[in-house]
Amino acid sequence: MIDKAVPDARGVSERTPADRTVAVWDLPLRLWHWALAVSVLTAWFTPTVHDNLHRIVGYTVIGLLVFRLLWGFCGGRYSRFRVIGVRLRAAPSYLLNLRRGITGRYIGLNPAGTLMLVALLLSLGISAITGALSVTVPFFGVWWIEDTHAIASDVAIVLVVLHVVGVVLMSMLQRENLIRAMITGRKRIRHCS
Ligand code: HEM
Ligand code: HEM
Repeated sequence: MIDKAVPDARGVSERTPADRTVAVWDLPLRLWHWALAVSVLTAWFTPTVHDNLHRIVGYTVIGLLVFRLLWGFCGGRYSRFRVIGVRLRAAPSYLLNLRRGITGRYIGLNPAGTLMLVALLLSLGISAITGALSVTVPFFGVWWIEDTHAIASDVAIVLVVLHVVGVVLMSMLQRENLIRAMITGRKRIRHCS
């Protein structure tokens, strides 16, 4: 639900209880997310066919990953690594509960989403760095750099597919359009933690 009311200092806007929303994703994080999605998908479809474009979006991914690391220290509340650390520790029990159909409700990423964030950052980091190394002189043609690049890229794409399936399933289970929230930055606040 897009809220037209003016939010208070905590980012919460008060209208009727049914449409109270809270600011979750700050603008830089939202721009970062969609720029990363476009760059990674472009990188996936361009090797060999459009090498220059592949390299440009690959280096863009490196820049975006560096930004996300910085944003983990100075971004909005739900972008911070402090919150991310706490939710990561909750991931094993969260996944067990999920199998019994208990989802819990979180304003920022839930523990499974947090696990996915870390897995995506790692696989994309390895993919982009080995990609960049594979075109620099000392590593040019080194088989294990090329193999690592191919494997990490495959892992990243599998994770992206799981990520999108997870987002759609969770949106249906919790009756909250998470994709719209990643565009507007706001979520409804019903029974959240
Ligand atoms: C290559 C493609 C993509 C990558 C690498 C990616 C990566 C990520 C990452 C890292 C986060 C965590 C945000 C944070 O840093 O705190 C995230 C969140 C999210 N992504 Fe993606 N994403 C991709 C594509 C998509 C697509 C296509 C959609 C929509 C269909 C989507 C929807 C979302 C949503 C809704 C969230 C927030 C989840 C929540 O509220 O629990 N993503 N994504
Ligand atoms: C996250 C970012 C990236 C993704 C997802 C990605 C993905 C891929 C994929 C799927 C392949 C085909 C692998 C195979 O089956 O052999 C590939 C090949 C390649 N990538 Fe990347 N890549 C990324 C970043 C980069 C970067 C930063 C560079 C260099 C600047 C780079 C340079 C290459 C090169 C030289 C190849 C060999 C194939 C060719 O284009 O002729 N990649 N990449």
